[in-house]
Amino acid sequence: MKAERFDLILKGGTLVTPAGPRAADVGVRDGRIAALGTLDPDAGEQVIDVRGLHVLPGVIDTQVHFREPGLEHKEDLASGTAAAALGGVTTVFEMPNTTPSTLTALDLQDKLSRAKGRAWTDHAFFMGAAAENVEHLAALEQQPGCCGVKIFMGSSTGSLLVDDDETLLQALRNGRRRVAVHAEDEARLRERLALVRGGADVAQHPEWRDVETARLATQRVLNLARRAGRRIHVLHVTTAEEIPLLAANKDVATMEVTPQHLTLTAPECYQRLGTFAQMNPPIREARHRDALWHAIDQGIVDVVGSDHAPHTREEKARSYPTSPSGMPGVQTLLPLMLDHVNAGRLTLERLVDLVCAGPQRIYGIAGKGRVAVGYDADFTVVDLKARREITAKWLAAKCGWSPFEGITVTGWPKATIVRGNIVMREDELQGDPTGQPARFVETLSGDAGD
Ligand code: DOR
Repeated sequence: MKAERFDLILKGGTLVTPAGPRAADVGVRDGRIAALGTLDPDAGEQVIDVRGLHVLPGVIDTQVHFREPGLEHKEDLASGTAAAALGGVTTVFEMPNTTPSTLTALDLQDKLSRAKGRAWTDHAFFMGAAAENVEHLAALEQQPGCCGVKIFMGSSTGSLLVDDDETLLQALRNGRRRVAVHAEDEARLRERLALVRGGADVAQHPEWRDVETARLATQRVLNLARRAGRRIHVLHVTTAEEIPLLAANKDVATMEVTPQHLTLTAPECYQRLGTFAQMNPPIREARHRDALWHAIDQGIVDVVGSDHAPHTREEKARSYPTSPSGMPGVQTLLPLMLDHVNAGRLTLERLVDLVCAGPQRIYGIAGKGRVAVGYDADFTVVDLKARREITAKWLAAKCGWSPFEGITVTGWPKATIVRGNIVMREDELQGDPTGQPARFVETLSGDAGD
């Protein structure tokens, strides 16, 4: 009998599978996982020794802002996906608040063409919801390369905003895929702007954009989602007060938290980092961070996403509140979360649920999110014991800074593999960018060009 051949074998690692950790080799053929078990190393064109390492399904970051087109001085699709690959991320979902905003099939097509041959990771793009495209959202969300619709209920970076119930309901009624929502109440934000307008201490950011601003918006969008019969995904949840609302509505709503809201707290972060800690929704006091961890423990949180939102040092150094909100994070998401695993705050299996299986489940990504035969050969190989400092030198994002610089973490990505292509090893990018659009179960028939 002819022995089975593989393009690549990962030899001797611990696989994190849906059934838990398992000591086994993985064989890859034609970009897919072809076998798990004890494999003859001679059967592989290429063999990587992963003894002592864990092989996770490729990490999927479902919230990044890569700024192209229009704001390339902050980031672009090449630098953003390079940062992703160096951080162990194999797939990214990119947000629509670019210039122009992503509002039409042409805007989406433009992003896909720009990513071709330049993206280091697989990728998909959100379609922004706005009054001008609300009638077309059902068709727009079906475009290949689209991960779904994103609604900004409160204004943040860029001009995207849908803040009235009527347009929100229209957006929720036009389409069927899960809708991602930035839930801050615009009317309350405007009402409270006087608190900081004209200059204030950045530590007041969570007072302006207060708990009630988030709670109100989340409650409103949950009610509207139920009326529309539409699934939603509430992005970067930051308050203890939203958790019971989301837990009571798991049938229609999933939720995301970010590593920065799980790691930083007010007021310390503002004292230490000033406006570099400013983001929307804000970093809040320890009781909220603790509530987010409790929600992870209770199974309420579905996804951890980075909300990678780079701005240059010069932009961030402006005086508050003219300083822009957002911080980079795609490259530090996994090291920070592995450090939390090592500190005993969650298990490695729960982390894989949050950054691999969770994204797959809520967005219906085709062929990703688990180490199983037939799935894409996307792997994030990690050394759980490596102690490493996060340094500016290691960062690939154009902005060149991170709020986590100088922090030493335990747990580090050693290799990033996308559909069998090794794109990062030992902190170095490998070969050429080979990222492709991600595919989705709800629009597979639309992916005719595959
Ligand atoms: O802090 C933020 N920055 N929150 C957002 O919602 C947008 C993001 C950005 O694009 O800068």
